[in-house]
Amino acid sequence: MTMTTSSFYLRPNVVMEPLITQWYAWLHLVAPATAPLYVIQHLKIMQSFLAHPQIHVAAMKNPDLIGGPYVNYGIDKVGDVRSLVEVTKQEEAPSVEFAAAVQALDMMLNEHPRGMSLEELYPKVPALLRGYVELGYDVRNQPSMRFIERMLYRSEHYRESAQSLLLWRMDRDERPFIFSTPRLEESDNILLRTPFRSDAVDEILALRHRPAKVGHFQELLGVGADKEPLLRSFLTEDVPSPPASRYDGDGVRIRYFGHACLLIESKELAILTDPTLSYRYSAEPARFTYDDLPAKIDHVLITHAHADHFMLETLLQLRSRVESIVVPKSNGSLQDPSMRLLLENLGFPRVMELEELESLEVEGGAILGLPFLGEHGDLDVRSKLAYHVRLRGRTAVVAADSNALEPMLYRRLGEIIGPLDALFLGMECEGAPMSWVYGPMLLAQLARKMDQSRRLCGSNSRRASEIIDLLSPRQVHVYAMGQEPWLGHVMGLRYTSESPQLVESNELLEYCHERGIAAERPYCKRELLLEPLS
Ligand SMILES: [Fe+2]
Ligand SMILES: [Fe+2]
Repeated sequence: MTMTTSSFYLRPNVVMEPLITQWYAWLHLVAPATAPLYVIQHLKIMQSFLAHPQIHVAAMKNPDLIGGPYVNYGIDKVGDVRSLVEVTKQEEAPSVEFAAAVQALDMMLNEHPRGMSLEELYPKVPALLRGYVELGYDVRNQPSMRFIERMLYRSEHYRESAQSLLLWRMDRDERPFIFSTPRLEESDNILLRTPFRSDAVDEILALRHRPAKVGHFQELLGVGADKEPLLRSFLTEDVPSPPASRYDGDGVRIRYFGHACLLIESKELAILTDPTLSYRYSAEPARFTYDDLPAKIDHVLITHAHADHFMLETLLQLRSRVESIVVPKSNGSLQDPSMRLLLENLGFPRVMELEELESLEVEGGAILGLPFLGEHGDLDVRSKLAYHVRLRGRTAVVAADSNALEPMLYRRLGEIIGPLDALFLGMECEGAPMSWVYGPMLLAQLARKMDQSRRLCGSNSRRASEIIDLLSPRQVHVYAMGQEPWLGHVMGLRYTSESPQLVESNELLEYCHERGIAAERPYCKRELLLEPLS
């Protein structure tokens, strides 16, 4: 192939991070009812950094505190963080008001005579929430608010103006943890202020495979002369290889892309689970990257909304090549924002919700939603599913962070799903305290003791072995362990050989091997084949 020297491709290792008020975007930070509560939390963290930067700097020298509420910048960034606080306070004044209104409404519900009609409260609901909220009791007379989320997305409360994308070049796996530190505009990155749904996002990403003049990149990214040299470093004349060819055998090929991301392919279909892909740059260990995906993905399956499974950064990269996304249905409560509504508002054309034991017929098989217990700090969150995938008569269950709290569930499921070829199960059995993810949304105080008792834990060895006894898979894969080196920015994990997650999963692998069940814990890259049925 020939090309003129003045046309370039976007390099495969140019990262595009979606941001909200310059913080890494994930569901609760984008969804209109919860985002303001997280914006308030971010302001608090940044103000703490401004007040005592040396405490944050000292904390970040202790690897055990990665993941804590400490800004990971040096004292030299105090000025930049101060500017961001000022801009955020000014531009996000409506978010601050919204968060205050939610708190006020919660207090009103709490002070209302328990069990008495809520009707008289409607005129007293803070004005900016009126018409967006329904008040109700559960069967124990606990009052709560429910947002009519679809209406919020159509209101000024959906703050698209807070959305931007940060482009920078990633040449090694280390990437700063993103939940406690904002992203700043710096000399080595380009901040593109545009809504995530903008066509410009797809146009820029298409330039990974279609060459264009530098001027076209400049125009799309709004880059001035000052950042032109940086922009040029994002470009290459190297012709990219075409997308991976589809699997065309008679069985089912499963490729492990890291963490909970699997590409499950039959001759007819390509299914991708919980996409969290590595960009391509030279790094060890070897791994599959975006370049190893086929041109078209028929179905993306999302197991739950945690940022290491529902990763907006990766999903945006794939938006133009995904035919449909299957997400678990939420219960509409404050703590359970709808993934479907978010994806629809981000411009994904076909988003389907599935419920427990609801099935989606696909070419050559079916995808069945399975109950997923636990791992959400006992919050009433319904948007979580494991999936039973049947293609060409072969079967796999992808259970992500499911915690087998109740073995009877698997006894009953075993009767429904029948023989199972492959089980993929996460064993992050010592998860973060629940406030780590959900803290900003909690309207009532959560004592430390409660917080520690409600950690976001997946299955340990005993529980995982119960699942295996009850589902009798022919092979077991312990996945979704967050071990891959390119995922440090969302996982904040540092495993050692004594880490309970590894000790417990080693124990499980041994348990399987003793029973003649093929079992492994894939790391970075793996491929397996479910042979065709004879
Ligand atoms: Fe999770
Ligand atoms: Fe996870």
